[in-house]
Amino acid sequence: MSSLPNQVAVTAAPLSMSQGSNRANILIADGDEDYRQVYSDLLRFEGFQTFCAKDAAQALAVVQQERIDIALVDVMIPKTNGMTLCRGLKTNPETRLVPILLLTGWEPDQDHLMGIESDADADARLKKPIDNMELITRVRALLDKKLFTDNLADTEKMLLTFTEIVEGKDPYNAGHGYRVSRTAVALAVRMGLPLEDREWVRRGALLHDIGKVGVPEQILTKLGPLNSEEKMVLNSHTYLGERICAPLASFRPLLQIIRNHHERLDGSGYPDGLRGNQISLLTRVVSLADVYDGLTTRRPYRGSFSHTQAIHQIRREAEQGWWDLRVFDALARIVGIECIPGRA
Ligand SMILES: [Fe+2]
Repeated sequence: MSSLPNQVAVTAAPLSMSQGSNRANILIADGDEDYRQVYSDLLRFEGFQTFCAKDAAQALAVVQQERIDIALVDVMIPKTNGMTLCRGLKTNPETRLVPILLLTGWEPDQDHLMGIESDADADARLKKPIDNMELITRVRALLDKKLFTDNLADTEKMLLTFTEIVEGKDPYNAGHGYRVSRTAVALAVRMGLPLEDREWVRRGALLHDIGKVGVPEQILTKLGPLNSEEKMVLNSHTYLGERICAPLASFRPLLQIIRNHHERLDGSGYPDGLRGNQISLLTRVVSLADVYDGLTTRRPYRGSFSHTQAIHQIRREAEQGWWDLRVFDALARIVGIECIPGRA
């Protein structure tokens, strides 16, 4: 080990922190025992609870057993590397919301060799040798973010209950939100969208039809074609959904997705007839995932399209100006090459 972090002065007063932060559980995953000890002593002095892991296997065992609020991961952790561990944590539904502080090397070329600069799985990075104050400041900032996402997750759970109630009314629509969400996230990953955008896409897709909670059941479940008045009522789920979520400040980035997921690039969609760049990229991603799920799901008045039929249908619509060709290209690649989860 070439240099240890500065030891914290034991007489220093703890920094001010957000309510509850002191009780937070922090995972320290570092192959170097001296570093683990120094980080642990420093964080415990600040009032945090720490759990140390010498390699990726131990780190994964810790996150399965303990409620971890933040993970400090050394990029050179043994038995894998820090980036692989980060990806494992971010793709596991149980740990995907745990913020990760990646500790990177002091060698100038190390980041380049590990591909760190282009990787979006870590929430923040610190370069060794690590300054104690900077470490504590970063940890507190990430814990504030965790508190925010925890609150968001609680609110999301409540809203999802509404969505499930809506989907429960219509057997042909069961699981629609989850399927759209999986497809939309796969699209976002394929298109290289940053982690934060992937998360908004996931939430927006889960909740895009929440406004149907305000649509009468006889319209949602009607087997025959809807008349013009019924269509108008059904289409109102877009702005009803926006109205439900609008009072929640933390859901603001979702509002356009919810209100405008039935818009088309040529202005022929609803409720606002938006065109082109008036429709955000995240909304376009959710729209296409929604359309794809609609086509590949059986309806009372028709069977489901095969994946190939659905892609051909959406391609025709994209070429006539309804959908974003970049998003369509990502969808075609996912369906053709990677297969969408749950859609064998
Ligand atoms: Fe919808």
